[in-house]
Amino acid sequence: MTESAAQVRQLAERFEADRLAWFRHLHENPEVALEEVRTTAFIREKLEGMGIEILDLGLETGVVGLLRGAEEGPCIGLRADIDALRVKEASNCPFPSKTEGKMHACGHDTHTTALLGAAQILSQMREQIHGSVKFLFQPAEEINVGAKKLVAAGALENPKVDALFGTHNSPEIPTGSVAVIDGPIMAGVTRIDIKITGQGGHGGIPQRNIDPVVCAAAVIQGAQTIVSRNVSPLDSAVVSICHLLAGSTDANNVIPNEVTMAGTVRFYKPEVEALIEKRLRELVETIAKAYGCTGELTFFHMIDTTLNNHTLAGIAAASAEAAGAVISNPDASTGGEDFSDYLPHVPGFFYWFGSRNEEKGCTWAWHNPHFRADEDSISVAARLYANTVFEAIQALKK
Ligand code: NI
Repeated sequence: MTESAAQVRQLAERFEADRLAWFRHLHENPEVALEEVRTTAFIREKLEGMGIEILDLGLETGVVGLLRGAEEGPCIGLRADIDALRVKEASNCPFPSKTEGKMHACGHDTHTTALLGAAQILSQMREQIHGSVKFLFQPAEEINVGAKKLVAAGALENPKVDALFGTHNSPEIPTGSVAVIDGPIMAGVTRIDIKITGQGGHGGIPQRNIDPVVCAAAVIQGAQTIVSRNVSPLDSAVVSICHLLAGSTDANNVIPNEVTMAGTVRFYKPEVEALIEKRLRELVETIAKAYGCTGELTFFHMIDTTLNNHTLAGIAAASAEAAGAVISNPDASTGGEDFSDYLPHVPGFFYWFGSRNEEKGCTWAWHNPHFRADEDSISVAARLYANTVFEAIQALKK
């Protein structure tokens, strides 16, 4: 173990009680995207207490802190998201959400706590840091706007961030594990909206109408052939229609004029996204035509694939090892993550830290009302963030 890794471990142990108290506070007081006002104030107060400079970027929510080391060198960015979800908590956490209808159902409270924990550790190791550290506490990850906001506000400039690392808890891997994936880790995300227009009328006299409902059913079936028949079996993609609106429950004998649908597309390669858009448009327009309707597709690209930087993968593996974690290499997720919005601007790497603990019931998936991240995972994540700084500075200064 390197000297810095040993010191990180020692400090992490010393500050354990602080982290658990912060986690409890954050978990009990969830705030959803762009409403993270009290969370922001809490983070600021803690960082200021550690002597970390708060950068004035004009952010309404979210915080960027800067720690300058004893000597000049690379600037390493560490990012955590801070927002919660509109989910009513049903977990067995002993300190549940105090806000009705909102909870940290994706465990961003563990990320916030871990990054505060890393800041606390690193603030005690300023002498050993030959470079600087930027702490990006990002708002609004759940609605995919927070990363763009931080980039636009200049979070990656002055000093310029040379490499950015982020992490997310994972209920799929046990506490103590860290996933180090060299390549895509989270999918690209596109929203689809489909409108089928026919001609409504009496449900008992279908020959006088043009039924958009039957047409919509054909479009849904057709859309499912894109992944099975058009995308290469060696690539991965998802096309899901998740919402359909047709007619009205109190008008069982009225064929509506139109049907609207919404769904999501997931992919890892831009060319797969382009193929899906082309095929979906063809299917929507031509199937609708065949049924005498008109079909319209809106294809709205939301976020890119989170593609981990190959050069940083080696640094990430060394950092996970220095943190004492078991390194794992699970499959990528088809979930999306706006960490990808930083990647056109800075080389980046995204880890998962295991937060699964069967004994405590920490097994539920992200966004489930029963979701609970194992609080023991926070120490691992805090050490991971802190060790990443030393490993990255060491590797990048050459
Ligand atoms: Ni999340």
